[in-house]
Amino acid sequence: MTLQPPSLKTIPQHVALIMDGNGRWAEANGKSRIEGHREGAQSVRAVLRAAANLGVKVVTVYAFSTENWKRPPSEIEGLMKLFIESLNTYEEELHNSQIRLRIMGQIERLPAPVRKRIEKAMRQTEHYSAHTLVIALSYGARTEITHATQQIAQAVANGTLQPSDISEEHITNNLYLPDIPDPELMIRTSGELRLSNFMLWQLSYAEIVVTDTLWPDFREPQFYEALKEFNHRKRRFGALDSTKGSS
Ligand code: IPE
Ligand code: IPE
Ligand code: MG
Repeated sequence: MTLQPPSLKTIPQHVALIMDGNGRWAEANGKSRIEGHREGAQSVRAVLRAAANLGVKVVTVYAFSTENWKRPPSEIEGLMKLFIESLNTYEEELHNSQIRLRIMGQIERLPAPVRKRIEKAMRQTEHYSAHTLVIALSYGARTEITHATQQIAQAVANGTLQPSDISEEHITNNLYLPDIPDPELMIRTSGELRLSNFMLWQLSYAEIVVTDTLWPDFREPQFYEALKEFNHRKRRFGALDSTKGSS
């Protein structure tokens, strides 16, 4: 039985997710951490399906942070293997749903087989334009902003840009994926109330939904609930509520 998506007034173009809680799910279910991550991969599939049903154009998932390199080598190795395994198993679904895969992060830090597998999947899906899955892999927002700053400083050093001409657009244009619009909604699973170095620039005005659900338990119904919650938010962007008049 397929679950009907709710009818919603506003559908965000871009939803970003901090997929947290795989380890806690594993512990609660008497499984290894890597089994928790594997079950979490199923949630990515479910969320992609739900997002496509609703008409969300871009889904970004935080899969591995720059800080996650501090984890034990065995867990890092298990995760790297899982990235390849997941692409082998699910790449077909990207084609079926015409989803373009993009990566943001320090892809050069990834082991060569992982990088090659990802690059192949990116090449093979690059002609799709209806939906995009962005995987934040070896991603850290501070590294991203530092990298953007270096590029802008280089333009200043070359004499092609004046410091006083540096605008917000210059910064946006030098981030990893400048053509992707900012997320309107950011969902974090497992209850932690922090950003953990995720998309600090792009999330400036995103609505944030934090759920206690652990990532492997986060499926279509939970995604729809988060979208409903988003629809209850009043987005003012610093201005006054339009219903209150302007005098
Ligand atoms: C999120 O789950 C996945 C990654 C960070 C790779 P965790 O592994 O952080 O799970 P918890 O937070 O230990 O439960
Ligand atoms: C954030 O989760 C990173 C990812 C989901 C990939 P973490 O589990 O690494 O974050 P902290 O350590 O709780 O901040
Ligand atoms: Mg965690």
